[in-house]
Amino acid sequence: MTAVGPVRIALIGFMGCGKSTIGPLIARNAGARFVDTDSLLVADAGGRSIPDLFADEGETAFRDRESRILAAVCASKEPLVIATGGGTVLREENVACLRSACFVVWLAARPDVILARTARDKGRPLLAGAQTRAEKHARSLSLLGERGPRYQSTAHLIVDTSDRAPVAIAREIERKHSVRDALSLSPLKAVTQ
Ligand code: S3P
Repeated sequence: MTAVGPVRIALIGFMGCGKSTIGPLIARNAGARFVDTDSLLVADAGGRSIPDLFADEGETAFRDRESRILAAVCASKEPLVIATGGGTVLREENVACLRSACFVVWLAARPDVILARTARDKGRPLLAGAQTRAEKHARSLSLLGERGPRYQSTAHLIVDTSDRAPVAIAREIERKHSVRDALSLSPLKAVTQ
């Protein structure tokens, strides 16, 4: 019989994909703590907001902070569900850290769904330079094109969240995580509707 380890599920994906909505639902049902690396980063920076950190220190310094926070979270032994920032997968060290410590789930969504979810958002510095709706769409699509392959190759499981209720998505992730643990399978990789 294989020992089942503590739950450690990491959610990856683009801004607006539902990581901070779905993460707490999984955590509650799985008896794990929910952590959001963006929130931990802000707390670690003395409460300075992400747009302020980008403006004052630049993106590279933000990514350094992000990698440091992620490494600390991945080293923890407690049961966790982790929501990561949309750019976390850009660094190879973060990908290695996530894949070795967690069951990694990409919350994917169709571009039109993501564009609708991020349309009115003002707290995301990577989209802040875009003035018009069309510019914001173009910027999001370009980032999605760059990042899609990174999300895909980092994930053990891919779940399409477009047009689905968060509760149903959370349940599916829990179920697939439990199956993988119970059967001690190598990471599942599947696209589900
Ligand atoms: C970022 C996504 C944000 C946050 C920062 C950078 C990105 O997190 O980490 O604004 O590079 O996509 P969310 O995905 O939680 O919005």
